[in-house]
Amino acid sequence: MFIKKLDEAKPLVTFSDLFLLPGKTDVDPDFVDLRTKITRKITLNSPFVASPMDTVTGADMAIAMARQGGIGILHRNCSIEQEVKMAQKVKRAESFVMKDVITISPDITIGEAKQLMRENNISGLPVVGNESSVIGILTKRDVRFADNDSLVSDMMTAKVVSARSDLSLEDAKKLLHKHRIEKLVVVDDDDHLEGLVTVKDIERRGKYPLSTRDDEGSLSLGAAIGPFDESRALALDPYVDVFVIDLAHGHNMNAVKSAARIAKKVSAEIIYGNLGSDHAVADIVSVMEDVAGLRVGIGSGAICSTSVVTKASAPTLFSTIQVASGVKELGLDIPVISDGGIKNPGDAALCFAAGASAVMMGSMFAGCRESPGKLLAIEGKMMKSYRGMGSRGAKAVRYALDRYSKPAKGIPEGVEGFVPFRGTVADVVDEFAGGLRAAFGYAGAAAINDMWIKAQFGKISSQGIRETTPHDILISPSPNDKYS
Ligand code: XMP
Repeated sequence: MFIKKLDEAKPLVTFSDLFLLPGKTDVDPDFVDLRTKITRKITLNSPFVASPMDTVTGADMAIAMARQGGIGILHRNCSIEQEVKMAQKVKRAESFVMKDVITISPDITIGEAKQLMRENNISGLPVVGNESSVIGILTKRDVRFADNDSLVSDMMTAKVVSARSDLSLEDAKKLLHKHRIEKLVVVDDDDHLEGLVTVKDIERRGKYPLSTRDDEGSLSLGAAIGPFDESRALALDPYVDVFVIDLAHGHNMNAVKSAARIAKKVSAEIIYGNLGSDHAVADIVSVMEDVAGLRVGIGSGAICSTSVVTKASAPTLFSTIQVASGVKELGLDIPVISDGGIKNPGDAALCFAAGASAVMMGSMFAGCRESPGKLLAIEGKMMKSYRGMGSRGAKAVRYALDRYSKPAKGIPEGVEGFVPFRGTVADVVDEFAGGLRAAFGYAGAAAINDMWIKAQFGKISSQGIRETTPHDILISPSPNDKYS
């Protein structure tokens, strides 16, 4: 029996074991199509997802990712209220008709109204009266030189320019221009507030043409929840396009049963994970038929120590091949998201060759300006903090404790440290998209689903790796050499 186990040991291929074989091509990298689906409803222009980790994805990262055509998954190592606040911030960031509008009553003071404006970084507040109908609007212009003790009712602009919710973008522009105003209040037949259109949001739409948006034009976002955290799911559901069931080892039947119950109660789609084997797919879909995406890879992340602590590991490339095959064998069409250990565009290209629809990255995005960590100088280099969600520091915050197995609760399964500063999310997405396009060109693939079919792997020995990376040269330091 034990000899059989040894005979049947699976080759755990990692990014270092395989290469892409250059193939026959007529693909111009500039014309490679990187659009992809990560669920049935969500299409990305850039196949990148930011990890739900507390040093990676808060509201600013989710906004930046969606603007660059990817998507960010909000971390859950915080209270439900804090995660909801982050989600609201993303949805409010730029929508044509903003739905979740902050309003004030006419009898508060200008000082209180100014504080609300400051805290929420907004420049105008609709004023709502007793019958909950709009009776005015208070903008920065109204409060600039006003006495803090005076009442909103005395300072607001009472003549409000309003429109109905079926107005088009062009009509909104015309109205804003005609009245030389910055905000347009959207009301129903009884003058009840339905939304707000702002010049700023309209301008931003033009600036980020690749953005990932929902049906109403707001930026799309995902949010991590635990498999048993129904109350978190219900609180977030109005603001979120997709939930990521955030579990280190998703092939856990109690977890998937609970996640399936949550799926029935929310309207957002569900990505489930993390998985590492082909047979896990059948077990998951037998319980949660409508699972919209699968997140794969166990123990390969830059901050993971799961494999050291437990010797359990399903490296990301291996998991992608396994799970994508499992999906295909069942005749299903569920996107696979490769997660963990991706450190350059070539690793991402291998994931696509292995059947992935998108790649999730923590370390790469943790180094961006938009991640929650502080930018600091360490030994003359700009760095940002990054930690595993199973690290001692992250576990001390306690909200994400159920991500890691109960017996190992006291033992960290992740490390904490710093990663190099990489500029903005736009810089990282550009570099990865550029590298991917070149890789697709070598493989002869014009799009992601073309890569699944055409890309071929080559195996390499450990000695071969030396020959296929820069060697026998003292490399001069270059600030642009981010992957050497
Ligand atoms: P990268 O390599 O992109 O990996 O930084 C990010 C992914 O790592 C996973 N993750 C962890 N895995 N211990 C682990 O074993 C941890 O503490 C931990 N925290 C995050 C997660 O899948 C993430 O997307």
